[in-house]
Amino acid sequence: MTDTILVTGGTGFIGSHAVVSLQQAGYRVQILDNLCNSDIKVLDAIASITKTRPDFMEGDIRDGNLLAKIFDKRRFGAVMHFAGLKAVGESSAMPLAYYDNNVNGSVQLLTAMQQAGLKNFIFSSSATVYGEPQKLPLTEDHPRSSTNPYGHTKLVIEDILANLRNSDNAWRIACLRYFNPVGAHPSGLIGEAPQGVPNNLMPFVAQVAAGQRPNLQVYGNDYDTPDGTGVRDYIHVMDLADGHVKALDYCLKAQPGLTTVNLGTGKGYSVLEVIAAFEQASGKPVPYQVVARRPGDVGACWASTTKAFDLLGWRAEKCLDDMCQDAWRWELSRHDV
Ligand code: NAD
Ligand code: WQD
Repeated sequence: MTDTILVTGGTGFIGSHAVVSLQQAGYRVQILDNLCNSDIKVLDAIASITKTRPDFMEGDIRDGNLLAKIFDKRRFGAVMHFAGLKAVGESSAMPLAYYDNNVNGSVQLLTAMQQAGLKNFIFSSSATVYGEPQKLPLTEDHPRSSTNPYGHTKLVIEDILANLRNSDNAWRIACLRYFNPVGAHPSGLIGEAPQGVPNNLMPFVAQVAAGQRPNLQVYGNDYDTPDGTGVRDYIHVMDLADGHVKALDYCLKAQPGLTTVNLGTGKGYSVLEVIAAFEQASGKPVPYQVVARRPGDVGACWASTTKAFDLLGWRAEKCLDDMCQDAWRWELSRHDV
């Protein structure tokens, strides 16, 4: 078994943090990324943190010829697959781009892996596959549904992975359902760098605290939650990254098969709680106004973490204050505030 891992999307937000965790756990890393939503400078930042520059190939996961060459040239222990498009709103405007990038891209990647005889695969799924929660906390056997094309691409890829595993029991697959990844590496050297207006709460709050935007719009305060605002299971991206290393170790050691695991903290925070924690961490005000609910949002969502702990021996360690402090350090590193 080789200890080199192919990381698709490894210069992106979650992928770059996973690369750091993989290197620190002793794995070598080869990144494949087309840089459609990330910057090559991330490689320098990773090298500053880990003292090892990951190998990098600029290219697209939909390029079957390129994939064949990559698998021909080097042997890998596994593939960690982060590459994909992830903006919910954009996916409704450009569904074909999402099915092509996410579904077709995954099919191309899995096909090349099968041809190369490499059957160890870690996939970035999402809590979005649970749709409207029927019961909290969300356990992995909760019924799945999707309300937008992005979410549907994750459902389809999960089904493809199940079909693949049923067709050939040599596959070892971990399907990791992330809750709400936030924060940044504590060095402030890597983090989330959304292009344009952030879709997600935490980067938006950070930009308001930094004075880049005048105020935050809180999408609804009439949910059935303690303060009426939406409740989510925010997870520090370094905890998430460590969860990937644990999932990889598990996959390589356990019997072949497909395992689906939530990666969350098991604790929900409201929008107003996030605002207060961020104000505390940054020492800056985060002015906000309450507006109508955002279509498609659920009121509350948090993970059952039992399976992750029982199977992988992993649980999130960092709290909301850590998430806000690290997100703020990353924000400060990018602007004069
Ligand atoms: P990101 O956009 O920061 O990273 C994705 C990376 O993939 C980028 O570097 C991009 O350039 C690259 N990429 C996209 N399409 C590609 C292609 N066709 N070929 C090669 N590279 C390509 O996103 P992220 O937040 O790091 O998300 C990583 C994965 O985790 C995605 O699959 C996403 O759907 C999933 N996920 C993210 C979240 C979240 O809130 N961030 C939550 C659940 C699941
Ligand atoms: C969190 C809370 C909003 C912005 C999304 C995707 C999901 C997954 C993670 C990829 C909600 C409120 C937000 C704002 C607000 N991604 N909010 N004002 O919607 O839970 O999940 O990212 O898989 O698929 O849907 O995260 O950060 O957008 O919202 O009030 O400007 O913050 O209503 O309650 P969400 P989010």
